[in-house]
Amino acid sequence: MAKSHTKLAKFIHWTFIILYIYGIFKQVDDLEDLEDKRLLIFEVAFAATFLLIVIARYFYMRRFKTFLGSREEVHIVHYYFAKTVHKSMYLCLILLPLTGLLIAGLYTKGYTDEDELVIGLVLGLHEFAAVFSYILIATHVSAAIYSRLKGEGVWSSMVPVLKEKENHSTNKVIAKLSEIEERFYDKVEDLIPSKKE
Ligand code: HEM
Ligand code: HEM
Repeated sequence: MAKSHTKLAKFIHWTFIILYIYGIFKQVDDLEDLEDKRLLIFEVAFAATFLLIVIARYFYMRRFKTFLGSREEVHIVHYYFAKTVHKSMYLCLILLPLTGLLIAGLYTKGYTDEDELVIGLVLGLHEFAAVFSYILIATHVSAAIYSRLKGEGVWSSMVPVLKEKENHSTNKVIAKLSEIEERFYDKVEDLIPSKKE
């Protein structure tokens, strides 16, 4: 039987999405809003909790293989692509609260003008982390859907609905796409100098 992520891993994956969406939607609109001490304290408490959860999650998930549920061997290049997307998501999810906390710290130290270099740079990094997280998550979700269409088993290892029944998709378009995808990975692998040579 194909491997599945633990109950705890699934719980963290799905509840964390609520926290992330909340964090994105409740965002501070303007630096001046931080004049409100209650808002500032709430933001700091939220960011610190968010940061601790992301770090704890990272250390818990590190022990599990990427594509844990895959029923067939995963191309090494594909494996590293997915690993890079996962690691980059973590990087953004750490940068977001970390730069948020830095903004709070700088603001209380008197850096209240967003045109100043230091706070401007931190605000820029905060924005970058937000935008980059949208791109990575969109890539991640698209890849998960594509994998579900192929029926590799990866989807079912984490997602509780629309579980895969058969071993592999028999759809001709999907089969053709998979073929192109594998050829692409082979080409990328050829570009990487092997240690054996
Ligand atoms: C409906 C949307 C989503 C679907 C269908 C989905 C699906 C999946 C699947 C199938 C895996 C397992 C991959 C593997 O075993 O290698 C996974 C892992 C992961 N997902 Fe998602 N995901 C979704 C949304 C998100 C969002 C919004 C985030 C970030 C906030 C996220 C972050 C992660 C991370 C970091 C992993 C790697 C394993 C871990 O450390 O938890 N996912 N996802
Ligand atoms: C996990 C915690 C946080 C998340 C998820 C988050 C998310 C966001 C997002 C998505 C934006 C909009 C970026 C853009 O323009 O694209 C934003 C802006 C902003 N955030 Fe955060 N943030 C967090 C913590 C904090 C904290 C702790 C502070 C400071 C107390 C803060 C201060 C700001 C400010 C001042 C802006 C507006 C920047 C501007 O003037 O354009 N954030 N945040």
